[in-house]
Amino acid sequence: MTDSAPTGPASPIDPTGTDSWQQLSDIATDFSPDLRGWFASESDRAERYTFQAADLTIDLSKNLLTDDILRPLLQLAEDVDVAGRYRAMISGEHINVTEDRAVLHTALRRPKGGADLEPAEGFTVDDDDVDAEVHATLAKVYAFAEKVRSGEWTGVTGKRIATVVNIGIGGSDLGPVMVYDALKPYVQDGLECRFVSNIDPADIYEKTADLDPETTLFIVASKTFGTLETLTNARLARQWLWERLGRAGVLEDTDEARTGAVAKHFVAVSTALDKVAAFGIDPENAFGFWDWVGGRYSVDSAIGTSVAIAIGPQGFSEFLAGFHAIDEHMRTTPLERNVPVLMGLLNVWYTNFLGAQSHAVLPYAQDLSRFPAYLQQLTMESNGKSVRWDGSPVTTNTGEIFWGEPGTNGQHAFYQLIHQGTRLIPADFIAVANPSRPLRDETGDGKTVQPGQDVHSLFLANFFAQTKALAFGKTADEVRAEGTAEAVVPARVFSGNRPTTSILAPALTPSVVGQLIALYEHIVFTEGTIWGIDSFDQWGVELGKQLALQIAPAVDGDAEALEAQDSSTKSLIAKYLELRD
Ligand code: F6P
Repeated sequence: MTDSAPTGPASPIDPTGTDSWQQLSDIATDFSPDLRGWFASESDRAERYTFQAADLTIDLSKNLLTDDILRPLLQLAEDVDVAGRYRAMISGEHINVTEDRAVLHTALRRPKGGADLEPAEGFTVDDDDVDAEVHATLAKVYAFAEKVRSGEWTGVTGKRIATVVNIGIGGSDLGPVMVYDALKPYVQDGLECRFVSNIDPADIYEKTADLDPETTLFIVASKTFGTLETLTNARLARQWLWERLGRAGVLEDTDEARTGAVAKHFVAVSTALDKVAAFGIDPENAFGFWDWVGGRYSVDSAIGTSVAIAIGPQGFSEFLAGFHAIDEHMRTTPLERNVPVLMGLLNVWYTNFLGAQSHAVLPYAQDLSRFPAYLQQLTMESNGKSVRWDGSPVTTNTGEIFWGEPGTNGQHAFYQLIHQGTRLIPADFIAVANPSRPLRDETGDGKTVQPGQDVHSLFLANFFAQTKALAFGKTADEVRAEGTAEAVVPARVFSGNRPTTSILAPALTPSVVGQLIALYEHIVFTEGTIWGIDSFDQWGVELGKQLALQIAPAVDGDAEALEAQDSSTKSLIAKYLELRD
């Protein structure tokens, strides 16, 4: 990025009033994409549009992009000063204006003693010595993780911990569960993590049913320690622990014994350590973080304690180093080679000029199966906004609906619509060269799959085939040349020109997982800056939470509370009460 001075969260620049926006509108008016033609006439297209960010190779060449489009897109990033706002963010300005907070997830992964850090080591924000506090907390998390991994930390009966159950929701769940799944091969033998999030009692019931209370450790992860789901599940877990230890005959029926059991089987992660203590968790066993870390940006804080236990401090530091590598790429790379900026700009091109409403994320890595769900919170809670950071209405569409499933499963489900439907759905394909579990098909089928076939190569053949099919399609003449009956030719034509980005990494290491997360964090940042919105608040989730608490008495049978509801809600609750055994 350029070296402009940090800018504060003054009034956003209206992107739609810029010349670059006007140019993009003009191009979009009679835009007719031609990936076949562009590849035929630009021999260097793949090379020109392929970029490197840390270990990630990102090929943008199969996007609906030409140099004539890229130029105004880059100008748009200059016009709204994406670089300046990024520098404002990382140096701790309160760019989360509606909550009057700094936004410093990038500080969570700054290495200790880094000479080239920007801002320089030792910077303070709201009286916090950011680096010192981050590293002190990390040291505490690592020390605890080591104790659990080595067996030094035991349950109340002296048995070592075998299962860690993380209780949290939203950012206090989606990050840890996604990363744990992604890094399963790195998990220490004899340790398992489970994740309880939903207030539906089926979730905690299923996750604890077969567990041994003597070897189970609960981590209550909640930034606010006030979230209904998490606190309800934490109480249910405590109840389960007492009940199951009692049933096993290893817990005396005294308050002291129960308190002692909680101290050995519960730890917490929160910014509200007073509330943690009120729940009965020893503050010594609580790991803090700060209000300048948003929930959906917190997996690299103490919220990742379950992951730190599972993969160990070494693995967790590599995970953080992966984030930092992309942060540095974002900070130091000129816009025209800056991958998160380019990907954010492409999303703006599709969303605001070509009418795309959704964006598919398709990991060709089973271990990344929760990545789309993780990105749903990151992208949609961040950029699903209708007002700008000064409170004025947005001037263009914001946000995209992120969705996806791992390949090849998705191919047999929803790819039909991506290939031949009427909607434009940009898609990110993510793959790793080296599988976490290499296997060969020793016998093959003797026809298409030869004996000894490397299954990962077969898997990735699908990755390459899909992006090729989406880009180049199949013409009517090509379909006819296969001897297809004329009546079904139209149904078998593929229009092509369906945009994809291919992201390739060497392997799904802790560092690469950190890199992927940071990449999308900064894509979100780029888009949010262009739209002029506060990507770091989430007021849109509040109303439903308030109403649930107001409605709860009615659902529990309180006639007066029921009467106060609107007619639809009233009759639905009445029906629920009638159906309830
Ligand atoms: O409901 C939205 C939200 O506030 C998320 O932003 C957050 O990640 C989640 O709830 C959980 O909040 P907490 O960590 O405070 O329990």
